[in-house]
Amino acid sequence: MSETFTLVIFGITSNLAQKYIIQALYDMEEKGALPQKMTIIGNARRKLTDSEFKTYIKEALDKENLHHQHEIKKETVQNLLKKMHYLDGNLDDPAYYDRLKEFLDKIAHSSKGRDDRIYYLATYPDLYKSVFENLSREGLTDEKEGFVRLMIEKPLGHDFKSAKQINKLMAKYFKESQIYRMDHYLGKETLQSILTFRFGNGLFEPLINKDYVDHIQITASEDFGIGSRGGYYDTIGALKDVGQNHQMQMLAFATMDAPDEFSNEAVTKQRISIIKSLQAHPEEVVFGQYKGYTKEENVAHDSKTDTFYAFKASLKNERFNEVPIYVRAGKMLEQTVTEISIIFKTPHNRLFKDLNRGMEPNVLIYRIQPNEGIVVRFLSKKPGSVELEENFLQYCYRLDASVHSHLFPDPYEKLILDAIQGDQTFFADAEEIEASWKFVDGLTGTKKNPIIYEPGSWGPEEADELIQKDGREWLIPSNAFCNIPLLTR
Ligand code: BG6
Repeated sequence: MSETFTLVIFGITSNLAQKYIIQALYDMEEKGALPQKMTIIGNARRKLTDSEFKTYIKEALDKENLHHQHEIKKETVQNLLKKMHYLDGNLDDPAYYDRLKEFLDKIAHSSKGRDDRIYYLATYPDLYKSVFENLSREGLTDEKEGFVRLMIEKPLGHDFKSAKQINKLMAKYFKESQIYRMDHYLGKETLQSILTFRFGNGLFEPLINKDYVDHIQITASEDFGIGSRGGYYDTIGALKDVGQNHQMQMLAFATMDAPDEFSNEAVTKQRISIIKSLQAHPEEVVFGQYKGYTKEENVAHDSKTDTFYAFKASLKNERFNEVPIYVRAGKMLEQTVTEISIIFKTPHNRLFKDLNRGMEPNVLIYRIQPNEGIVVRFLSKKPGSVELEENFLQYCYRLDASVHSHLFPDPYEKLILDAIQGDQTFFADAEEIEASWKFVDGLTGTKKNPIIYEPGSWGPEEADELIQKDGREWLIPSNAFCNIPLLTR
């Protein structure tokens, strides 16, 4: 580990920093995973005294959120706060970077060894240019005494053209090996372990192809709305918020060919190959908006932004040619659940086909959250009767967590650590981002107005029709497996 390590977070008061970054830093502090001589510099525009900043961090940590429902220990907070400093200022203002440089120089001079740095952009995209230009002007992008890396959040751009522009802009100041494009789904334990399940075992992989798979479904549903994020969300919508990135990565993990080796280059190459071979069918997409969305804070009263989408796509490759892929995601739906289901073909010679449920297919489910697990749905004989019933062969993460007495790390924690260690395997690269936007552009080219749906439903009926016209149904995410209470630490 380096002599000094500095993490500069531009936008420390953003929703993202509060909800994910600060929480991850706490978890890392608790586990002793942060570099020894580490300084964290938080930036935001508002003026805060040192003690106000510390109160802000403590409050952010205490706020309950989806990912970090565990005890916040005073001592850990104190240790984390010792590393943290606040440097307010406007990122458009060149004078700000003079002060930042002064601060960073002081840290560098305090050590005789390496001086490593990560800049984390948790701020508005319209500030990126100014941040890069000013850092570069001050010589703060030069890798002289240690590494300089950039972490940048999704969505990168809003279409292929703008993503290309941002990539080009970044390439002016940073090498590709310095850029860590965040998609926190890439850091999810439950997503990463799909690779182990598929390529570490011989049993299932030979079946995951067009000869055995009837179709694939990917669902990412949330039973809550946009909360206070209207200002951001209304400009982007569901497809660009989670479809261009998270769901694309879910699909890539479930369908990619085996990488030649477990390295950044080899894994990224396979992800890119999937995204590039994904075919959009613009006529087979449904956009929805939950009733009441236009009354949310910071949302235009006549907004046509999608809070739901469903589409059908396919992969133009040897393995999956013609296998339909149905994808849906949205807010204010019936359930909060994220899963990938591989639905296998039903053989015609089934002995029990005339019995109730006799022709139901086997399904391999990668449950990303909640009830995290990898599960195979199959039919079994109901004891004492001739009837059939649904059963599951299951591997459940929560059970595993209890055995090993720890919870799996949060994606942000994992990815910040990867960036510190210089491992880009689970970060998107420039070509990957551009390929995914090309696909999304193909879906939105003739974008229709969203159809209003009832909160608490599964989205507009048209989304059901999209799959029903192919003689299929959306699977209702099951609660019948991996029902193990979440441990707290
Ligand atoms: C974020 C989106 O990237 O991912 C949110 O901006 C979404 O709108 C979230 O709710 C989902 O992440 P997770 O980890 O809660 O499934």
